[in-house]
Amino acid sequence: MALIFLLICPTLLSCEKEEVKLDPEKPNDSKEMTIKEKAAFRIGAAVTLEDLNIATYADTLVHHYNRITAEYEMKMTPIWGSADNYNWDKVDGLVDFAQEHGMEVHGHTLLWYREFPGWFKSADYDSAAFESLIKEYITTVVSRYKGKVQSWDVANEIFNDNGTLRVDEFVFKTFSDPIGFYGRCFQYARDADLDALLFYNDYSVVLASGKRFAITEMVSRFQNEGYPIDGIGGQFHFGLNTTESTIESGLMDIARTGLLFHISELDIKVNVNQSNSYVFTPGEQNRQAEKYKAIVEMYERVLSQDQKFGITTWGLTDKYTWLTGYWHEKEYPLLFDESYNRKKAYTGFLDGLNEVE
Ligand code: XIL
Repeated sequence: MALIFLLICPTLLSCEKEEVKLDPEKPNDSKEMTIKEKAAFRIGAAVTLEDLNIATYADTLVHHYNRITAEYEMKMTPIWGSADNYNWDKVDGLVDFAQEHGMEVHGHTLLWYREFPGWFKSADYDSAAFESLIKEYITTVVSRYKGKVQSWDVANEIFNDNGTLRVDEFVFKTFSDPIGFYGRCFQYARDADLDALLFYNDYSVVLASGKRFAITEMVSRFQNEGYPIDGIGGQFHFGLNTTESTIESGLMDIARTGLLFHISELDIKVNVNQSNSYVFTPGEQNRQAEKYKAIVEMYERVLSQDQKFGITTWGLTDKYTWLTGYWHEKEYPLLFDESYNRKKAYTGFLDGLNEVE
């Protein structure tokens, strides 16, 4: 026993954060092909700095992934304490981790209606004051991480599924031409880092044709008026019941923009009826694996090679997923189980990737 402990925990430090019982019967999988090794594009995961302090979490992440997105810490509320007070510590921690491990960082998200800080909302700025502060925010954040954050979601979720603008959002109360405002925001980001790739991110991009039409109209307008945009992010918070043919036709449609496409927040719900008696049986695990495989295959098949920005899962392990809070406590949406073992979903994802030539 003591010998096993010493072998597993060569230093006490490496095991003090987390008790992970390694199964001696379990073959060491470190020689098996990983998703990041097989993919011809980056494989990302949404993480928090707290997650990265868990040794097993960090090891698993680094072994299988080569890009991170901040699940929360790079949103506006946590960063922007007041007009001239920025909280950098957690973002620095995430960016340093990525640099140490040769990973890219996808910045999420400069603008999102849910994350304008309270002090900003309650100030009731007119459009000129509003925009000059937002310009300063974008410029400050993007230039600080120039060369370290390779891509940004400049704006997140500005349309309803039917393609209308979210009128409940106060950007739209402040500006008579909100899309023009967003175009200028993309430009502020470009001016701050010429090399960073700039994305518009939303959910149901491939499922809701009205929203997709609005996005493509916005892209055309940006291109006609000279505002930069490099890619579209589709969140892909899907479930076992999400229809594959709908995903595929939406993906084909958005691919016609010619822009990069990022599956930016992939997770696949299994407890689709939010049942308290749900059991994640082997049959359900297989269904989830098939769904992951179908989505990855579709990404490979539909997009041209130079449009594949990457696939990011919204988390790493079923132990920590936003869905146990936002959806149902019995939910198992990711590629690793609660003990950091590869799930069948992982194999499905891996099988969906094209063979490397
Ligand atoms: C979620 C995070 O997972 C939660 O931890 C956070 O508290 C709220 O936001 N679409 C997005 C993400 O663009 O930013 C959201 O992330 C999930 C839905």
